[in-house]
Amino acid sequence: MAETKWTKKDLLSMEDLSVDEINLILDTAEEFKKVNERNVKKVPALRGRTVVNFFVEPSTRTRASFELAEQRLSADIINMSASTSSLTKGETLLDTGKNIEALQVDLIVMRHSAAGAQQFLAKNLRCGIINAGDGAHSHPTQALLDIFTIREKKKKIKGLKVSIIGDILHSRVARSNIIGLLKLGAKVTIAGPPTLLPKEFEKIGVKLCDNLVDAISDADVINLLRIQHERQRAAYFPSISEYASIYGINADTIKYVKKDALIMHPGPINRGVEIDTAIADGDQSVILEQVTNGLAVRMAVLYLVAGCLG
Ligand code: CP
Repeated sequence: MAETKWTKKDLLSMEDLSVDEINLILDTAEEFKKVNERNVKKVPALRGRTVVNFFVEPSTRTRASFELAEQRLSADIINMSASTSSLTKGETLLDTGKNIEALQVDLIVMRHSAAGAQQFLAKNLRCGIINAGDGAHSHPTQALLDIFTIREKKKKIKGLKVSIIGDILHSRVARSNIIGLLKLGAKVTIAGPPTLLPKEFEKIGVKLCDNLVDAISDADVINLLRIQHERQRAAYFPSISEYASIYGINADTIKYVKKDALIMHPGPINRGVEIDTAIADGDQSVILEQVTNGLAVRMAVLYLVAGCLG
């Protein structure tokens, strides 16, 4: 277990984390994974703490695993969504946050479509804020669970070749993975239509590639992303079928993938577009293990953050 002590009341982005803090979360998650494999999966670590899950954007995996993580840690939980909150009546995000805080809530886990929404609340509220995804900006717990899964399978991160393929431009998952993987010494390539590959990443040491075979043929890890139609305001490529034929991992393109490479996807997957069913459900896929690991990683984050609240 790393010697680092956790001192942050919020988890907002991978940019904010040191290498030691990332390793502390991963090491702590390893311990919680063991708890999740026991017959009795509940521990009292957050007994007496109250957590609000506030999801202003849809979610399956993140929301379910945060809620289960809080239950496993014995926290009291309130679930709120945008459509049933007073945001629909014109209340501001800050007023909503202050009203939640007035109920002596300890932590807010929030997903929001606006980049920076969690940072804004974290600056203005005393309670802890955990970012469960903000716009196209950041999704730190997804990156942490992806890195946890890679470390568990490959026993290291440093020196690994990780290719992230798809709609990088609109992906908070890609951004957070890139930052975390580079901090831990991985070599990161991003691939997809040139219109979806932000050039800014080259400046921090990421390789840009518009040819799928080049991106996958020597990769140790291939992380596939869906096309985020909900965030696209323009046509970035001619059609989904053309995208699938050029950038999809299927029976033809899997031939170029190393036999020991991990196939990852944060979900939700679009079968037949970025990944074919046989590959998504195949031997090299760790997609559902990522979900399992997400529970342990979110327990670790909740535990560490709650531990430094007043
Ligand atoms: N990977 C991920 O964030 O999935 P959800 O949108 O279902 O939470």
